[in-house]
Amino acid sequence: MEPREFRNCLGAFPTGVTVITAIGPRGEPVGNTVSSFNSVSLDPPLILWSLGRHAFSLKAYLSTDLFAVNVLREGQEELSNRFAKALGDKWAGVDYVTGQNGCPMLCGALAVLECRTAHTYVGGDHVIFVGEVIHAEHDPEGRPLVFHRGKYAGITLQG
Ligand SMILES: Cc1cc2nc3c(=O)[nH]c(=O)nc-3n(C[C@H](O)[C@H](O)[C@H](O)COP(=O)(O)O)c2cc1C
Repeated sequence: MEPREFRNCLGAFPTGVTVITAIGPRGEPVGNTVSSFNSVSLDPPLILWSLGRHAFSLKAYLSTDLFAVNVLREGQEELSNRFAKALGDKWAGVDYVTGQNGCPMLCGALAVLECRTAHTYVGGDHVIFVGEVIHAEHDPEGRPLVFHRGKYAGITLQG
């Protein structure tokens, strides 16, 4: 298979955009833009996401069993780009509050799921995190930020 075609096929599947957050081993906030978030199970409530094994933040997520999934809303492209950059001070000027599980919750997110890591698996060049959702909240009125073929998009509701 041609790698470019593989990537293009993956990009044909539109996703939402999340920022996964946690508190690192030195008490510092950690955040990464992630589109690999998905639902797994309703009972128990499980979700998953995956992080590249070369990400600088990987050690931080493996050093704690708590993380939060912040689902971005339309208009939050700047936040997505900020947390997609490797290293650097991703958090300067970012508004957040501390959630029930101690992880940063981004102000203005469309939904936040506070989780405890239930399983991790090596999946090729990524690590797959399966989390049990401990607490969740969302804005029923808001619309999501969408990522499709390498570009941001919005949604149009039908009906
Ligand atoms: C829209 C979007 C979605 C992304 N989704 C993922 C993902 O699911 N998994 C992943 O490992 N990297 C993903 N990335 C890239 C990471 O955000 C980026 O490599 C990472 O935050 C770098 O952080 P580091 O400081 O931990 O190295 C995505 C980037 C963008 C812009």
